[in-house]
Amino acid sequence: MGKPLKILLVSPEIQPFAKTGGLADMCASLAKSLHSLGHDVRLFMPKYKQADEKKFSLQSLPVKLSIPVGEKNIAGEIFSGKLEDGAPVYFLGNDFYFNRNSLYGDEDEVFTDNAERFIFFCRAVLEFCKSLAFQPDVVHCNEWQCGLIPVYLKTLYSHDAFYKSARTVFSIHNLGYQGNFKAETLDIARLPEEVFTPEKAEYYGEFSFLKAALVYSDSLTTVSPSYSKEILTKEYGFGMEGVLKKRENDLHGILNGVDYLEWSPEKDPLIAKTYEPSDLDGKEACRSALLKRFSSTSGNKQPVLCMVSRLSYQKGVDLVIEALPSLLKTGLKFVVLGIGEHRYENELQKLSVRYPGNCLCLFKFDERLAHEIIAGSDMILIPSRYEPCGLTQIYGMKYGTIPIGRAVGGLKDSIEEFDLKTGQGTGFKFDAFDLDAFLAAIKRALSAFKNQKSWNRLTLNGMQRDFSWNQSALAYVRLYENLLNK
Ligand code: ADP
Ligand code: GLC
Repeated sequence: MGKPLKILLVSPEIQPFAKTGGLADMCASLAKSLHSLGHDVRLFMPKYKQADEKKFSLQSLPVKLSIPVGEKNIAGEIFSGKLEDGAPVYFLGNDFYFNRNSLYGDEDEVFTDNAERFIFFCRAVLEFCKSLAFQPDVVHCNEWQCGLIPVYLKTLYSHDAFYKSARTVFSIHNLGYQGNFKAETLDIARLPEEVFTPEKAEYYGEFSFLKAALVYSDSLTTVSPSYSKEILTKEYGFGMEGVLKKRENDLHGILNGVDYLEWSPEKDPLIAKTYEPSDLDGKEACRSALLKRFSSTSGNKQPVLCMVSRLSYQKGVDLVIEALPSLLKTGLKFVVLGIGEHRYENELQKLSVRYPGNCLCLFKFDERLAHEIIAGSDMILIPSRYEPCGLTQIYGMKYGTIPIGRAVGGLKDSIEEFDLKTGQGTGFKFDAFDLDAFLAAIKRALSAFKNQKSWNRLTLNGMQRDFSWNQSALAYVRLYENLLNK
């Protein structure tokens, strides 16, 4: 290994402290992997209500920050904690901004002061590192909420000796979330006029955190090779394809790894019984435990399909809702765990009323249930409109739960279509975002399910695939090193 690097990994969510989706998993598991490679990686996130001091044994540090936000100076406190492997995590506290019931908004509405909250966050990160005398080689920022960090470094902090050699990496996890706010945001961020031009942070008259990050970061990454190409097109670029095209040479697609310490049926404390490829009895026990949650025990030999997902437009929940009536009629079982848009919850709820013994809806965010459902099901549905990486198909494979996903982004890169003749492959994919293509993929899966030998083979293929961080973390390290050597 080369010289250990000092890496500051900044994210609006980190597992286990606060999570709405795969971003939290990715940041925690990448950090653990970098830490185990011997790098000095420190994480930084807001101290939300979820990141409870007692639950996570957080310590308050004797640091008082005062951060300019618009006309005001906002006080910030710092807490420190650790990931299980020891990597330090720092939390920015301010009760007004972060002590709320959710991370970014309530119900279907985002908080109206999100721009202010994350301006405060971005600038506080930079001030905090100075007070800690932690001089990072690389500042690795994730999602729009961290988007102003690279901007500050290239503007207000450009002459700051402390950050002279720091390089920035910005990871795009989802272009559907951009942090676009009214033009006055520039003043709230106290950034110079030059930032607000169409070549930089201006996006159709608004101030875009994401666009700013895409322009000002030294290097850009996204979470799968396929998504890194898709986002250069109009169909998947969410209006950012032009900016991204300009930065094509600095854009790298690195497939997310997963944390097998958290997600392995061999040692998962959250499931009914552990199991492994050579002994699948535990999988049957997990299946039985899950089936007990349904109101009827009839048809327990039928396949169990699940979905563990944010219920959002991205995830193709509407396609699942369309497909379900014909599927449920055949007697199979379906369970969904998710929170999100009410229109989807309502439709799914109606189906569970119509097919009470077959369709189970769990509208909550519950880590334990996510493990229980992924372990206990036979197949997992991920018919996304777009999918930067996607983690549940990878968790599914590890748990012998066969993914049926749309061939986009990370789903395309991580699922290999099963071939009944050769016995190769790990799941089922479909191309067009339409009902027929989706149903056809499900049909292929259902017919493989009927053939015990093929199904066992398919199950083992997935369980034996390796999506650990070993390779991907090294790809990030190479990228950091190349940037520092430039
Ligand atoms: P995204 O980040 O787009 O939501 P991913 O597949 O990358 O999609 O990651 C989703 C993560 O969130 C997985 O860890 C999944 O288990 C988890 N998850 C999604 N919905 C729920 C829920 N309702 N309860 C618990 N975990 C959930
Ligand atoms: C995003 C994407 C998802 C990805 C996750 C972690 O939320 O929607 O595809 O797996 O980030 O990178």
